[in-house]
Amino acid sequence: LADQSVSEDELLADPVEKVMAVGGTRHPAIALPADLFQPERVNSQGVDLDDAAVLAATATEIAIPAKLAIAAGPGPQEAVSRALAAYPAWSSTSLYTRAECLDRLADLLEENRGKLMALAVQEAKKTIPDALSEVREAIDFCRYYSARAIADLVPVELPGPTGERNVLRHEGRGVWVAIAPWNFPLAIFLGQVAAALVAGNAVVAKPAPQTPAIAAFAVSLAHQAGVPADALQLVTGAGDVGAQLTSDTRICGVVFTGSVPTAKAIARNLLLDDARPLVPLIAETGGLNAMIVDSTALSEQVVRDVIISGFQSAGQRCSALRLLLLQEDIADHTLEMLRGAMDCLNVGDPSDPATDIGPVIDQASYDKLMAYRQSVKDRIFHSVAVPAKGLFVPPTVIRLNDLDQLQNEWFGPLVHVATWKAGTLDATVQRVNAKGFGLTMGLHSRIARSSEAVEQMARVGNLYINRSMIGAVVGSQPFGGEGLSGTGPKAGGPHYLYRFCAERTTSTDT
Ligand code: NAD
Ligand code: ALA
Repeated sequence: LADQSVSEDELLADPVEKVMAVGGTRHPAIALPADLFQPERVNSQGVDLDDAAVLAATATEIAIPAKLAIAAGPGPQEAVSRALAAYPAWSSTSLYTRAECLDRLADLLEENRGKLMALAVQEAKKTIPDALSEVREAIDFCRYYSARAIADLVPVELPGPTGERNVLRHEGRGVWVAIAPWNFPLAIFLGQVAAALVAGNAVVAKPAPQTPAIAAFAVSLAHQAGVPADALQLVTGAGDVGAQLTSDTRICGVVFTGSVPTAKAIARNLLLDDARPLVPLIAETGGLNAMIVDSTALSEQVVRDVIISGFQSAGQRCSALRLLLLQEDIADHTLEMLRGAMDCLNVGDPSDPATDIGPVIDQASYDKLMAYRQSVKDRIFHSVAVPAKGLFVPPTVIRLNDLDQLQNEWFGPLVHVATWKAGTLDATVQRVNAKGFGLTMGLHSRIARSSEAVEQMARVGNLYINRSMIGAVVGSQPFGGEGLSGTGPKAGGPHYLYRFCAERTTSTDT
């Protein structure tokens, strides 16, 4: 990618046409027909009707290139140097100016929604409904962090018994390194960046190697929105580039979303050099997410929510359902209904509006998932037919004889199923807790006492009762886990921005 150069201005002028000009071959246009977003489909994907109406009104053909290219930017060290130089001016810019930049960025994301969706389909292989949600979540992050910054980051005078004037200020810390995954290449990428910037920091942002172009376009829009070019630097590359950035002793913090092993590698890296300052690491990682279903649950609702939670986005969400735990009495009936619902799934080209589930992200992921699937083939309950060509992992339900058979997050459309006996709800929750992850959990039950008990016992960041387990909404459902699943604070929640700030207290004898 790096040797096919397009300047940022060119990318901004027309990201799609410019990248084509440097060597892409035309990919079939994505058509977004005006009648695509039928109300029932929209609702089942969690997309609101207003949004769909706006999109339908502006529906166009969006051509995207087969190969995307972005400008070669500065290397990791140079990017940190430039961000450091830009930090003092940016951090002393008023809070209101910084918040306005995020609002303008949100406006620009809205204006460019079609192109951003096309890039999400092309690079991240998102289906069209998933691409729409992706852009909307990015917009939500920008507007939410802008509003929270104005509400929360102003200096506060603290009352108290000292007789002095005590003021608590929240200020930028310096240069943050932001490292994002490919599965939310715009929303998570920009959520990290927006939070760090509005808190008064400069940022060096590294997207996943699979999704650099959508990140480059987003950074261009942020610059157009008023963020000084050097206060937000984009560095592309794989894990080695991320490791170089986190090894740089001049940075003041790392915000990371990705796998558990990578989070641990970064944590180790931050402690390697005895002489460097202690800096915060915000890590949001994977999950081994269970849905517990008792005999009072409504089967139709359970099946719908298993399909959404386990298979939407080809299971490539940290929040996705990995372990379905059915009360013994209803297991056979529920699984038969699930089999029927799975057979209705349409797996195929993500740019086709009729597709429910697209391919997985790349060959490495495909090979890993298919090898695992092969290793458990004797325990497959049911799987869905997929096109012969392409990286399509069949949505599959795999039986477990024992919960110990599942120890790792398999990042694809594979749902494991086991049963539990009436009267063992508490023990079942404890067994899930014991796995050490703590991201999402689902419960389907009509017994209020059971809901209360699970709410008390579950060691997860997000518990979903009688609904699906994915698609946390910014500002309403702050998202993030505990244990192996992350450090907190929760993205899209009221405490997120504070972690990006230095908190400074001044006490003056009056
Ligand atoms: P990954 O850990 O392989 O990569 C994530 C990012 O880290 C990429 O940008 C990668 O280049 C970079 N990286 C890799 N090695 C590095 C190193 N040694 N030092 C610094 N950076 C390094 O994860 P992925 O495959 O891109 O994403 C999928 C994972 O992300 C899954 O485990 C999923 O559960 C998790 N995830 C978590 C959340 C959440 O909010 N909790 C959200 C989305 C994805
Ligand atoms: N925030 C994303 C979800 O809830 C990961 O699915």
